[in-house]
Amino acid sequence: EEETLARIEIMRAQAHLGGGLKRIETQHQKGKLTARERAELLLDPGSFNEYDTFVEHQCTDFGMDKNKIIGDGVVTGHGTINGRRVFTFSQDFTAFGGSLSKMHAQKICKIMDKAMLVGAPVIGLNDSGGARIQEGVDSLAGYADIFQRNVLSSGVVPQLSLIMGPCAGGAVYSPALTDFTFMVRDTSYLFVTGPEVVKAVCNEDVTQEELGGANTHTVISGVAHAAFENDIEAIQRIRDFMDFLPLSNREQAPTRYSDDPIDREDPSLNHIIPVDSTKAYDMREIITRLIDDGHFFEIMPDYAKNIVVGFARMGGKTVSIVGNQPLVSSGVLDINSSVKAARFVRFCDAFNIPIITLVDVPGFLPGTAQEHNGIIRHGAKLLYAYAEATVPKITIITRKAYGGAYDVMSSKHLRGDMNYSWPTGEIAVMGAKGAVEIIFRHVEDRTQSEHEYIDKVRFANPIPAAQRGYIDDIILPAATRKRIIEDLFVLSHKQLPLIYKKHDNCPL
Ligand code: COA
Repeated sequence: EEETLARIEIMRAQAHLGGGLKRIETQHQKGKLTARERAELLLDPGSFNEYDTFVEHQCTDFGMDKNKIIGDGVVTGHGTINGRRVFTFSQDFTAFGGSLSKMHAQKICKIMDKAMLVGAPVIGLNDSGGARIQEGVDSLAGYADIFQRNVLSSGVVPQLSLIMGPCAGGAVYSPALTDFTFMVRDTSYLFVTGPEVVKAVCNEDVTQEELGGANTHTVISGVAHAAFENDIEAIQRIRDFMDFLPLSNREQAPTRYSDDPIDREDPSLNHIIPVDSTKAYDMREIITRLIDDGHFFEIMPDYAKNIVVGFARMGGKTVSIVGNQPLVSSGVLDINSSVKAARFVRFCDAFNIPIITLVDVPGFLPGTAQEHNGIIRHGAKLLYAYAEATVPKITIITRKAYGGAYDVMSSKHLRGDMNYSWPTGEIAVMGAKGAVEIIFRHVEDRTQSEHEYIDKVRFANPIPAAQRGYIDDIILPAATRKRIIEDLFVLSHKQLPLIYKKHDNCPL
């Protein structure tokens, strides 16, 4: 037995070396940690329980029977993040370039199944050359097995992907199916086909970084939700992020009390909206003043910046924040901002996270570019997401709430639970200028008409909406935090029965 024990220990030590010291050195030279270093850093010290350390591939073609690496290019298991259970897989680029074989896929599927069984999130650390070329269709089958599980797990347990190296071809679709995709700057990239294929097919010259680096996906494509400077920062931020999320759709997010008083008033908010309603201000400033300790985890901070979305806590409870951003294109809703916010709202609804919406929206963006690319279809996604959401929904109109965009932004009419306006609210079909141009078309001097419209029809204020009960109250900005926290408490046991359906048909 002693001999067996010794052999097991040798094999375990070999497994820990992955593709060997030389390749580990190369990995480090690229500024990347190894798969095991990453897993250890992600999880609380000493909490990692590894599965399938001894798994090897079963491929015999192309001399692979003589070329085996214990563990087969991926480290899998579970551990805790701040004491809460998560499952993880971490691809080992030092072993066959982290490429995905049948057994490699089987290891990933095993932890995905376990996570579903017990209701715990799955965090994938991706660093892989793609399908294991020697295994052919077996590796394609492996990808599909993972995709199927991504889909079945969607809305049941949170799924996160952190891209920490190459991720190309079919490999990109697992991250794409997960709830959040994060990237590491300079060392990670995602693309369906690499620069060589792009050159051959489209005759375009493009670098890996331009085609699918962190900047591309966080600024231009919207494929990734945030990018971090290096492996260590990325992993630390993911640990912080996980604290905002529940372990599954059957649970609530954890409570993290802070010293920030729940009844803290912020008088500076009373003056944050410029007197001139065409002037911009930073919605993020309002958000940080409302939430606990100003601690905001923004999702997609560099994409569709005309809408701000992210996670925070209020009174220790996780909330999601959606805010139009007057600083960028006056906070107008366009295709990209609608899609960005819609996906975020749907995540929060699936995982019991209340939605706080801060409204200052002049409407949907006009123009052929938007219409031809389907603003109707894409804007409908955000409308759909808010209308279907059954989590607590609290809405504050800080200034403009114009036209269809008023309806969309978590209005009372879409089952908003608590709808407020600040005294600076302007709720109307359209801006005063546009309105006057249409209804006073035949009047010569429209300046006079405009003033009349604003004053007499009480255009630029929230009173008509309050008189109809479309907003529940007009509140002072300084008292907003206190009010929201009270409402969150009132709504904490909110229940809305769902009608049976196989699934919905959200516009795509
Ligand atoms: N299948 C099998 N082995 C692979 C592999 C794959 N898909 N991708 C990488 N590897 C192996 C390499 O053969 C190499 O093995 P070695 O250490 O024994 O020499 C090792 O992984 C490292 O790859 P290398 O090419 O030296 O690393 P790199 O950092 O220079 O390049 C890639 C990384 C991903 C750009 C490059 O490996 C690549 O183009 N791989 C193929 C990608 C692909 O087309 N995949 C299939 C589509 S899904």
